[in-house]
Amino acid sequence: MAASESEGVIQKVCVIGAGTMGASIAAQVANAGVPVLLLDIVRDEDNRNAVADGAVASMLKTDPAPFMSKAAARLVETGNIDDDLGKVATCDWVIEAIVEKLDIKQQLYAKLEEVRTQGTAVSSNTSTIPLAQLTDGRSDAFKRDFLITHFFNPPRHMRLIELVTGPHSDADTVARVRAFVDRKLGKTPVDAEDSPGFIANRIGTFWIQAAVNAAFDMGVSIEQADAIGGKPMGVPKTGIFGLIDLIGIDLMPYLQKSLTSTLPKDDPYQAIARSEPLIEKLIGEGYTGRKGKGGFYRLNREGGGKIKEALDLKTGEYAAARPAPRISGPAAKGDLGALINLPGKTGEYAWAILGPTLSYAASIVPEATATIVGVDEAMKLGYNWKFGPFEMIDTIGAAQLREKLSESGLPVPEILEKVGEDTFYRVEDGKRQFFGLDGEYHDIERADGVLLLSDIKLGAKPLLKNGSAALWDVGDGVVALEFTGKMNALDTDVMKLIGEAIPLVAEKYKALVVYN
Ligand code: NAI
Repeated sequence: MAASESEGVIQKVCVIGAGTMGASIAAQVANAGVPVLLLDIVRDEDNRNAVADGAVASMLKTDPAPFMSKAAARLVETGNIDDDLGKVATCDWVIEAIVEKLDIKQQLYAKLEEVRTQGTAVSSNTSTIPLAQLTDGRSDAFKRDFLITHFFNPPRHMRLIELVTGPHSDADTVARVRAFVDRKLGKTPVDAEDSPGFIANRIGTFWIQAAVNAAFDMGVSIEQADAIGGKPMGVPKTGIFGLIDLIGIDLMPYLQKSLTSTLPKDDPYQAIARSEPLIEKLIGEGYTGRKGKGGFYRLNREGGGKIKEALDLKTGEYAAARPAPRISGPAAKGDLGALINLPGKTGEYAWAILGPTLSYAASIVPEATATIVGVDEAMKLGYNWKFGPFEMIDTIGAAQLREKLSESGLPVPEILEKVGEDTFYRVEDGKRQFFGLDGEYHDIERADGVLLLSDIKLGAKPLLKNGSAALWDVGDGVVALEFTGKMNALDTDVMKLIGEAIPLVAEKYKALVVYN
C-alpha cells in the first residue's frame, strides 16, 4: 500500500495510559486533527476519568505546550479502562503507554484482544521490553496487528519514532501506522530491531555513562565536560550533565538497570555501567535535576538573587558555575579530529567520550538496526545530535579512529575495518549513498513522498543565489526559495531574490515553495 493511500485509514486513535508519554502522545494525535480516546485506570470513584481528565487539564498549562491549540484539546475524549475499553472497537490504532511492567501490559493486551476489531493496529510505547515478550500468549491475529512505536519525550517536539516489528507483524498494518506517524504526526519513523534499548537509548545511555565516568575519573568539572561534550561535538549545548538534569538524574539508575539486565554479559555497556556514590546521594536527597531541588546545576535564589551554580564532583558542594576554557579554531567548528587531538585534558576528555561511544555505535549494526543510516537518524532525531555517529567518524577519518581505538585498547568493530580508507557516506551521481555491511555503497532511500532539499543540492546548482537566499529547481515545475543568511532572517537580499524569482516562476514554473 502506498503511504498516501494508507494515511487516511487511521481515523480514530485510542491511547491507554495518561502519564507523561501517553497524555502527550494523545495530544500530538489531536494536534493532527484526529479524534483520540485517552484512557487510564480508575483512581477516584467520584470522577472515574479523573486521571485522563487531570492529564488533559495539566497539559493545557504545560510549557512547552503539548497541544498546539485549545481546539486540539477538544479532540481528546477521556475515559477509563473499566468503563470505556469497549470503545476501542471504533478505533483504528491503539497505543499502549502504561507502566513499564511486562505482566501489567500483558494483562491489558488480553483484555484488548476481546474488544478490538481485527485489523486495528496495537502498539506499545515500551522503552525496554522486547516485542516477543509483550505478545507472548496472544493470538496470531493479535500478533499480526502488533508492533512497538517508541516515541521520544516530549512527543510533540522530538521527531524520532523507533518502529519495531515482529516476525508475525502484518505489512499493511505496519504501513498504515508508518504513514500516519510520518504524514499526520510529523515524525520520522526509523526501523529498529527487537533488541534491548533499540537504537537511540542504547547509544545515548552508553554515551552518557562514558562521559560521566570520564569526568569523575579525570577530574573534569561539569562545566568543562559540558563545554567539551556539547557544542563542539554538535550535541545540544546542555552537553552531558545539563542533559541529565533535564531528563532527571533519577532516570539514570533506571536506564542502567534496564540495559544491564537485558544486554548480553559481553556487551561493552556492561563494563562501563557503574553507580557513583555522589549521584546516589543527589537522588536520595531530591536533587533529581530541573524537576527536583536542582541537580548537577542549580539556580541559587538565596537573598533574592539568581546565581547559576555547578556541583563540584570531588567535594559534592555547589559553587558559582565557572565558564570553561574556550575551545577555538577547527575543533570548535565541527572538526572532531582536531578536537580529540587537542593537547591536555580537553582533547583527552573529548576522546574519552567519542572513542568508546563511536566504537559502540559502530558495533550495533545490524543488531539494533539494519544500516548505519538508522543509527545516525536515531541519534539526530532522538537526541538532537547535529551529526550521527557515522557522520562523526567520517569527519575524524576511519583510519585515524581505528588507530586511536587500538592504541586505547577499545574494540574496532567490523564495519569500521571494512570501510578501509573510505568514508561511510559519499555522493555518487548526485545521490547520497551509505556504506553497507556488504562492503558496497547503497543509495539512501527516502520514504514515499519525502523530498529533501539537501538531497537535491548534492547534484544541482541554484538557479539564483545571493548572500542570504538561493532558488532551487526541485522538480515537477516547482522551485524552492531557501533562506541562507544569518539566523534565516528575512533581509533585503532575500527580498531582492524574491523579486527576481517571481518573474522567473511566472514564466517557466508552476509554483514556488519557501524553505526556511
Ligand atoms: P507514567 O508513569 O508517567 O504513566 C503511566 C500511566 O499508566 C499512569 O498514568 C498509570 O496510571 C497508567 N496505568 C498503569 N497501569 C494501567 C493499566 N493497566 N491501564 C491503564 N493505565 C494504566 O509513565 P510514562 O513515563 O508515561 O511511560 C509509559 C510508557 O512509555 C512506558 O512503557 C515507558 O517505558 C515508555 N516511555 C517513557 C518515556 C519517558 O520519557 N517517560 C520515553 C519513551 C517511552
